[in-house]
Amino acid sequence: MRFHAPRRLGIVGAGVAGALMSRAVLRSNRFVLTGLADPDPDVRNRVSAEWGCPAFIDATELVTSGTVDVVYVAAPTAHHLGAVSAAAAAGVHIICEKPLATTAADAREAVDCARRAGVSLLVGPTVSYDPRYRVLRQIVTDRRLGDLLSVQATSFTDWHRRRTRTAHDLDAAVGNGLLLRQGAHQIDIVRLICGGDVRAVSGALHGGAGGAEQGFSTQLSFANGVQANAYYDGSGAVPEADELFATFTGGGVRVHPGGLHLYSDGQLTDLPVDPATSVWDQALVEMDQTLDGRIPIHDGEWGLGTLATCLAIYEAAATHSIVFTHQSLYQEKS
Ligand SMILES: NC(=O)c1ccc[n+]([C@@H]2O[C@H](COP(=O)([O-])OP(=O)(O)OC[C@H]3O[C@@H](n4cnc5c(N)ncnc54)[C@H](O)[C@@H]3O)[C@@H](O)[C@H]2O)c1
Repeated sequence: MRFHAPRRLGIVGAGVAGALMSRAVLRSNRFVLTGLADPDPDVRNRVSAEWGCPAFIDATELVTSGTVDVVYVAAPTAHHLGAVSAAAAAGVHIICEKPLATTAADAREAVDCARRAGVSLLVGPTVSYDPRYRVLRQIVTDRRLGDLLSVQATSFTDWHRRRTRTAHDLDAAVGNGLLLRQGAHQIDIVRLICGGDVRAVSGALHGGAGGAEQGFSTQLSFANGVQANAYYDGSGAVPEADELFATFTGGGVRVHPGGLHLYSDGQLTDLPVDPATSVWDQALVEMDQTLDGRIPIHDGEWGLGTLATCLAIYEAAATHSIVFTHQSLYQEKS
């Protein structure tokens, strides 16, 4: 049994994602919240009182204060690289929100500076932390139904209606837009199931008034030959629904809200999966295990691969062509 003291965690960016992580930290017995950084003085004062921890003006002040072992970076995406490099320079481990950065070059720099500093960098938390997808991944790696052939993932959400989306909210150049903000979850799931190494990408953005990204569709070809289609609609035009089907040489799987349906030899087996704790809780578990020596799934290379895939979808959509990504980024992990 492990008895080491809870790990001290600081939050960079006390907005929507930061608040969700603060609640996960309160629920955790492995982490304790010891600081936050936010440049907005109103946010700093209010949230510091609410969360009961000291507030700093920026990530550098927080990570050099000697009060944190891990930071969760939930600043706007354009500021991720600055916070990650400050934390790495201070020897502080990092959970960075997705997407890791706004460009593949910045994401590569973030990964490299964490590696050079010898600190752990996780990129998440995405919906791929959902235990149903871990179970499906296990079915793939165990070859319980033979070889995985294809995956079809469909998501309908009301992302565009949750609040008024400004031009800034929809600007992919600063890491926003539906594909980078929401599609990254779905691409992460598909990569987790299919093996991670995307080689060819085609895709289209679904237009809508003013050209805002209402959704996207993409076909991804993986290095191992698996083919995936992902369709995402964030217009809220139809009720929210998430589905994923996987076909194998010896059967198929449907992921549904309560678990998985496994089809083999004409038989249906129901595999219930316990309701997930939030992805923020699970990101903390993954960091805790990583610091205990386990190889993580959602490491920096992984986050870079998901970002590169999303950016390839933009490029494929803009050029009406197939984009060859040749990601030698991903190392298959057992
Ligand atoms: N995993 C998820 O499901 C999920 C959900 C929401 C947001 N996110 C991600 O979290 C990040 C933040 O999104 P949000 O919706 O919480 O944004 P937000 O606008 O609600 O909050 C961002 C906060 O960061 C602060 N900030 C701005 N610049 C900063 C800097 N340089 N250093 C520190 N803090 C800074 C702002 O003052 C604000 O308080 C984005 O990368 C987004 O993609 C992920």
